[in-house]
Amino acid sequence: MKRQASSDQGMWRRQITFLLASSGSAIGLGNIWKFPYIAGENGGGAFILMYLLCITLVGIPIYMAETVVGHETRRNPVTAMSILAKQAGQSQRWRWVGGVACLTGLIVLSYFTVVAGWGLHYLVNAFEGAFQNEGSYAVRGIFIDLLSDPVAMLRYQSLFLMTVMLVVGLGVRAGLGVAGHVMVPLMLLMLGLLIAYSHSLGDMSAAIDFMFSFDTDALNWNSFLVALGHAFFSLSIGMGAMMAYGAYMPKRTSIPSMVFAVASIDLLFAMFAGLAIFPIVFASGLAPGEGPGLMFVSLPVAFGNMLYGSFMGALFFALVVVAALSSAVALLEPAVAWLNERRGIPRPIGVLLLGVLVWLLSLMSMFSFNALQHVEVVSGLNIFEFLDGLSANVLLPGVGFALAVFVGWRMDVQKFSHRRFFSLWIWLLRYVTTPAVLVIFVTALIQHVA
Ligand code: PHE
Repeated sequence: MKRQASSDQGMWRRQITFLLASSGSAIGLGNIWKFPYIAGENGGGAFILMYLLCITLVGIPIYMAETVVGHETRRNPVTAMSILAKQAGQSQRWRWVGGVACLTGLIVLSYFTVVAGWGLHYLVNAFEGAFQNEGSYAVRGIFIDLLSDPVAMLRYQSLFLMTVMLVVGLGVRAGLGVAGHVMVPLMLLMLGLLIAYSHSLGDMSAAIDFMFSFDTDALNWNSFLVALGHAFFSLSIGMGAMMAYGAYMPKRTSIPSMVFAVASIDLLFAMFAGLAIFPIVFASGLAPGEGPGLMFVSLPVAFGNMLYGSFMGALFFALVVVAALSSAVALLEPAVAWLNERRGIPRPIGVLLLGVLVWLLSLMSMFSFNALQHVEVVSGLNIFEFLDGLSANVLLPGVGFALAVFVGWRMDVQKFSHRRFFSLWIWLLRYVTTPAVLVIFVTALIQHVA
């Protein structure tokens, strides 16, 4: 296998395209829906500090490792790992890391599109004024009705998935690149408007208090696992996405600066999303809530009872959908590139095949709220919750760990030794990142089993 100067999938000509596409993939449901409430629940400022630590010591080194693997080989995650393993005289089994990464991306995509479909449903509802002057009881009813109606869920989920397929089908430049250029500025604009609205009508100080007050009592081992899992999820690492994007990165790009910029944008976006959401939730006297309840019950109630609520509510759900879209494309891309480069399957056909596969897989998630709601995969978790937990807590850290071991200990990295931050990066990968992931992972596992 020869090394190539450019990717068969096409390349981005400018660094900014990499930055925008990667930021688009990082900013997603994780920032808007997950981060604000896990921060609030796990000790606010204390958790944010811990999360920052996870990003710097684990997230950024692995993010760089993924990008380097793609950038060096210009191939899909599986071939990339195979080439690098061969160069370093290591076993070809390392390519499985790339394979599992691609599959994890597809699994995440299958339930991610379900949540995005709910977002789309709510966008339409908000716009039509369905939440106007409604209380929690009525809105909870709307959500329960949606969950119990697989056809309604399917309609919006399928529409969303088809849009994802269209963008990926258009290819690296016209699809992923253009999407980054359009969607990231759009998201910033929408978030800006929402914060201004929240600031003028909501209870900003209660929000700041909830998110940033320093409550070390709420921290425990599990918060560590939550912080770590979220660092992976939010930065889009452990799923091959950054290996794929690294392969399309222009030649002369400073990887550390790019990665640092994406991580900062991602964190800032998550914190500002909290400052857009919580002021209006608290001003309406609602509880911050947890999980889907926050986004699909508390927030619509809050918007529905405020000035210009229908419009602003629709704007919020439009932000959710755009953020989900710019992330979802990164989940499909690695597997499409893999099918194309390994099996010679043309991009449009690959997109179609994988799209159908993801759609079928997502049926299980959709049915887990109705027809299959009694099916428990492991104790207390339905299929949807199981897939979410499996990917965020097991597969992502697992792939990340394997990659950190490979790049830190096995790969031939001396050729990068002249680059800035090289020694710090390798040192972190070897002595901090790998043991940290291992310790947190094993401890959490023991706690779960015990
Ligand atoms: N980073 C995205 C989020 O925060 C999720 C994601 C993971 C997207 C992996 C693409 C790849 O929601």
